[in-house]
Amino acid sequence: IMYILIDKGKVRSECVITVENGNTVEIKNIATYPEDQGKGYAKHLINFIAKKYQNKYQILQVGTGDSPLTIPFYEKCGFKRSGKIKDFFVKNYDHPIFEAGHQLVDMIYLSKRLN
Ligand SMILES: CC(C)(COP(=O)(O)OP(=O)(O)OC[C@H]1O[C@@H](n2cnc3c(N)ncnc32)[C@H](O)[C@@H]1OP(=O)(O)O)[C@@H](O)C(=O)NCCC(=O)NCCS
Repeated sequence: IMYILIDKGKVRSECVITVENGNTVEIKNIATYPEDQGKGYAKHLINFIAKKYQNKYQILQVGTGDSPLTIPFYEKCGFKRSGKIKDFFVKNYDHPIFEAGHQLVDMIYLSKRLN
């Protein structure tokens, strides 16, 4: 299911939520328009999602590269590192991927309890 956050008539952030199993939902592809970043929109969207799913699921998780642009954001939203898939970005792409000058290697999972 895709969610969009609209403020003052404009879409600011979006994400997709998938059901992974009977306990866990996962955030995919969360993004805020570049000009709207740093204003709390994505955090607000995550809080909305956490409330919406808290009665049916126990864990909200997300997988991301080991990047200074994303890990601190999720930690600010209350997520804690919960695991990783080693070499994910090296094995699944035919070229190296860099974010903020930092090569992405492992897929890092972070999770947050919903209740
Ligand atoms: C990651 C992203 C979704 C964050 O969205 P945003 O709307 O700018 O985030 P918010 O304004 O809600 O930030 C929430 C908190 O995280 C902090 N934060 C956000 N990005 C950060 C960063 N790179 N480093 C440190 N803190 C960060 C904010 O300062 C804020 O802190 P506060 O609660 O103390 O005020 C946005 O930067 C984005 O769209 N990036 C490109 C797409 C992407 O990488 N998506 C992630 C896929 S895994």
